[in-house]
Amino acid sequence: MPATIYVLNGPNLNLLGLREPEIYGDDTLDDIAGHLEDRARDLDLMIDMRQSNHEGHLVDWLHEAQANDAKAVLLNAGAFTHTSIALYDAIKAVKTPVIEVHLSNPHTREAFRHVSYVGRAAKGTVAGFGALSYLLALEAAARI
Ligand code: DQA
Repeated sequence: MPATIYVLNGPNLNLLGLREPEIYGDDTLDDIAGHLEDRARDLDLMIDMRQSNHEGHLVDWLHEAQANDAKAVLLNAGAFTHTSIALYDAIKAVKTPVIEVHLSNPHTREAFRHVSYVGRAAKGTVAGFGALSYLLALEAAARI
């Protein structure tokens, strides 16, 4: 059985493709899932891609990733990145490596995006490359 990489997406990312395309690009979340699945096949990995607008779902899925022995989690927590101590605690609580992912580069944007609770607990961060951020994070996950 190939190892599984969970790809968890937070609030408003269901609207990718429509949502502020000048910042987040034209790719939908389904497009990104397709690119990840293609690359995962070459790497002998499986992708489990999910999205929720609810913080607790992301916490539950981090726990589930560990329980199911996932190889790694790619986490784009959207705005919860900048607010969620619950996600910080969940990432700390699990042994599964978590890679923080962002389409945009939050450090070049509003000051409230410069704080990342996710980044304080994550193994590493890939940000600023649009949809490619996810693929770069998958390359990193494959090598952990
Ligand atoms: C984002 C950056 C966050 O600041 C924002 O709230 C998002 C998307 C990104 O992928 O660039 O929802 O995580």
